[in-house]
Amino acid sequence: MTTPSQTISPLMLLCSLVLSLSVQAGTTPAIATGKMLGDTCASCHGTRGKSFDEYMPSLAGIERKQLIKAMQDYRGDRRASVVMNRIAKGYTDPEIEAIADYFSRIK
Ligand code: HEC
Repeated sequence: MTTPSQTISPLMLLCSLVLSLSVQAGTTPAIATGKMLGDTCASCHGTRGKSFDEYMPSLAGIERKQLIKAMQDYRGDRRASVVMNRIAKGYTDPEIEAIADYFSRIK
């Protein structure tokens, strides 16, 4: 007959494994890729930057420099916008560059 402690131990093992993995994930800084960051733009600019709406600019195939300048201008409130100024404030220069690399490479 199995004792309650024997029945529980595999579960405890699993729990501690999951816990240690999540602790690790929390302490190791995630390196966000251009794709990961670029995917946050998809809800408005379309999947992989391909707009599905004539009023929304596509980001796919955009000139790298153009995206960087636009994001920095929005972030610095130098370019008028409805939402992009708020969105751009959430990204650092290296992140904007990674996003620009990602979208500029999409054909
Ligand atoms: C909530 C919707 C929304 C999200 C999310 C969003 N955008 Fe935008 N974006 C807009 C709108 C709307 C415009 C037009 C300018 C404005 O009114 O803000 C725009 C304009 C732009 C432009 C200017 C394009 C041009 O042709 O001049 C760039 C570049 C841009 N967005 C990049 C991004 C990037 C990069 C992300 C993700 C980090 C992103 N946007 C996320 C709504 C969004």
